[in-house]
Amino acid sequence: MRLHKQTTEGNAFSILTLDDDPIMTSTIQSYFQRSGYLVDVENDPSRAIDRIRQGNYDILLLDFLMTPMCGDQVVEQVRQFNQDIFIILLTGHKSMVPPIKTIRALDIQGYYEKSDRFDQLELLVESCVKSIRQMRTVKRYKDGLSAIMDSLPQIYDLESMDHVTDSILRTASSLLPCTSVVLTLDDTSSDAPQRHFYSRATGEGFSTMDAQQVQLLLDSLVGRSSLVQDKDVILPVLDNDQCPTGFLSIRLQEAPKYDQIQLMEVFARQISSALNNTHLHTLLQEKNHQLDQAYSQLKNSYLEMISTMRRVVDAKDTYTRGHSDRVSYYAEHIALSLGHDPQFCERVRLAGLFHDVGKLSIPDEVLLKPGKLTEEEYELIRRHPANGAELLSVISQFRPILPAVRSHHERIDGRGYPDGLAGDNIPEEARIIAVADTFDAMTSERQYRKSLEFQAAMAELERCKGTQLDPRIVEAFQAMVRQPQFWAKLKEDLPGCTTSQLNPTLG
Ligand SMILES: [Fe+2]
Repeated sequence: MRLHKQTTEGNAFSILTLDDDPIMTSTIQSYFQRSGYLVDVENDPSRAIDRIRQGNYDILLLDFLMTPMCGDQVVEQVRQFNQDIFIILLTGHKSMVPPIKTIRALDIQGYYEKSDRFDQLELLVESCVKSIRQMRTVKRYKDGLSAIMDSLPQIYDLESMDHVTDSILRTASSLLPCTSVVLTLDDTSSDAPQRHFYSRATGEGFSTMDAQQVQLLLDSLVGRSSLVQDKDVILPVLDNDQCPTGFLSIRLQEAPKYDQIQLMEVFARQISSALNNTHLHTLLQEKNHQLDQAYSQLKNSYLEMISTMRRVVDAKDTYTRGHSDRVSYYAEHIALSLGHDPQFCERVRLAGLFHDVGKLSIPDEVLLKPGKLTEEEYELIRRHPANGAELLSVISQFRPILPAVRSHHERIDGRGYPDGLAGDNIPEEARIIAVADTFDAMTSERQYRKSLEFQAAMAELERCKGTQLDPRIVEAFQAMVRQPQFWAKLKEDLPGCTTSQLNPTLG
């Protein structure tokens, strides 16, 4: 005997007829086979249950009065594992029909009083077939929607246009039995004056179209949700203004059914939205990239300008040339000797390099004045730490060093400028730069005085401990500069920046 497992997908419907009377089952088999049904027969109730369990029947026609098991008992067992099969109960006489309550409880779709004519039974079976067809359509639609839902994360993932189009082709070809899927889209990246399209396809048997044919098809898709041509379903891909900018063309194995077209229209709306999102995302990324580049150029030119300003400040006074490089070097090495972390040391190095950049705003006649400054002139000098911090604040990467630049002329005793901070209220980076700055100022020849000898400078630092300078930092500096290898390394690291009067052997 045959077992029809394929029937829920095909057009044929399968029936199992169960009766302990073989004549009845073979009569029913012949009758319904003539109408195109696939019919199996069974005369043993238990074996019938097994066959339903293993097979995939659409309809069960069974006798009510059988031995050793009655029809309602068979149905009760079948319903424990199969709620989908349609069941029609055959009875010898109306009076033998089980109560309506039992028929409802067992979900029996109808009963038939046996007679020589089967037209009544055929009507009942046809009614079941109609319901099965509707259920299959609903199930197909539901499964399709579920597949669309499952594909949405890939379609909406905004990774790249290629990734999205791949996901669309993959999902479209899995939704319906088809031979090919073609996705044609407007190539927005093309600079050509006329519209340019590109296509991606999967499957076989599709034909390519030139731009004119694509344009004609797009025109015919305006205001439509789909276009059906023989086995082809063509769905518009719409932009945000609901204008077709491309299409998805699916060639099915058979002429499309109504519910399949509906399903593809749902899918097409999703892909339009996903493609628009991806397009916007790509545009946004391009704009962001351009913005980043513009910002980077701006930042580089500003950095260049600040670096130039720093060199200009150093170069203004021939005697201070290399000053900020040395301050930076001393300060970074003090920070290292104090055991600070690399970020702290880098802040100190950078702040040392740029600490005096605000001096650019001081007129040369004041900055380079050999004699005593007037109160107004001194006031101009006192502004340079705050001016420097302001200049540097434009670039975000300078933000961590602004406090050090602003406070490098503060004093431990609170008599410094610009804010009159005292003790630990002065950022440590600034206190370190103050020591390095003071030492280098003393050991460089200035317009207005000769440089101090190394020993004299060390003595001066000692004198300033606790008033102008942080004693702990002065001591760290003194210990560091008494080591000859420090000077040897400085000569190596800063060629051309060392001051000749420094004698490392004078420890
Ligand atoms: Fe300064």
